[in-house]
Amino acid sequence: MVFKRFQEDIAAFMARDPAARSAVEIVLCYPGFHAILFHRLTHALWRRDWHLLGRFISHVGKMLTSIEIHPNARIGRRFVIDHGSGVVIGETSEIGDDVTIYHSVTLGGIAPSVDSKSQADRKRHPTVRDGAIIGSGAQVLGPVVVGKGARIGANAVVTKDIPPGVTAVGIPAHVVMPRDREQAAEFVAYGTPRDGCPDPVEQTIENLRSQVGMLIDKVEDLEATLRRQNPADAENDDKDGSITDIASGRRR
Ligand SMILES: CC(C)(COP(=O)(O)OP(=O)(O)OC[C@H]1O[C@@H](n2cnc3c(N)ncnc32)[C@H](O)[C@@H]1OP(=O)(O)O)[C@@H](O)C(=O)NCCC(=O)NCCS
Repeated sequence: MVFKRFQEDIAAFMARDPAARSAVEIVLCYPGFHAILFHRLTHALWRRDWHLLGRFISHVGKMLTSIEIHPNARIGRRFVIDHGSGVVIGETSEIGDDVTIYHSVTLGGIAPSVDSKSQADRKRHPTVRDGAIIGSGAQVLGPVVVGKGARIGANAVVTKDIPPGVTAVGIPAHVVMPRDREQAAEFVAYGTPRDGCPDPVEQTIENLRSQVGMLIDKVEDLEATLRRQNPADAENDDKDGSITDIASGRRR
């Protein structure tokens, strides 16, 4: 059972990080993976009321990975924390299956009342449903729900519920586009759909084409200006097919 979960986690990292090359690389080099292993241990200790030991081991995990996950946070299967540094997951957070988060994400609490003790037994942190993707630097604050398959943009600040399957960006986060059900069910690296990630060669050719188009427009404008200034030259150009040098105004 433990071994199966272990394999499942590795497979999830392999599937969701385009940079991952092998299972060994994930085991050795992925702080997000290490943090999840620490959490499994600390959560088990917490549930057996070994709170201080759980907190202490969680603290050691934080020192090694720069990822802080409270031992009481509930985390589903195939959870991926990519890159990892600066991630904070608060005590009453709940995370479903197949969730992906990037570095510097906070699942945090907001504005505790004057008496912070009265907050202790309350749900203060977010619930993130299955398949959601939370971009780097996003802050999800309070007992809000990020719906199934939703995508939260990098650096967004979420303080209200986000419906399932939508994309939300900005501060405060607002929905920019709904996703169709099929898309919402499938993982896309960095939350960016494939059709939003053109082939780099294609993109370079497209950029060059648009630059050439702009240059042609400029040349035509300059030719028109020259024709207006020297109608006689323009007439000769038309006759002998020669070109007026745009920069110097001389013929070549
Ligand atoms: C939010 C996100 C998932 C949307 O990706 P997408 O579906 O390809 O959407 P688009 O890029 O077409 O953006 C849609 C609109 O939202 C805006 N937008 C996208 N991401 C944004 C962000 N993080 N903050 C603010 N606005 C954002 C775009 O400018 C665009 O606005 P427009 O329609 O006015 O032009 C993606 O931009 C994102 O932030 N992914 C997280 C990436 C990440 O964390 N990477 C770290 C990996 S190391």
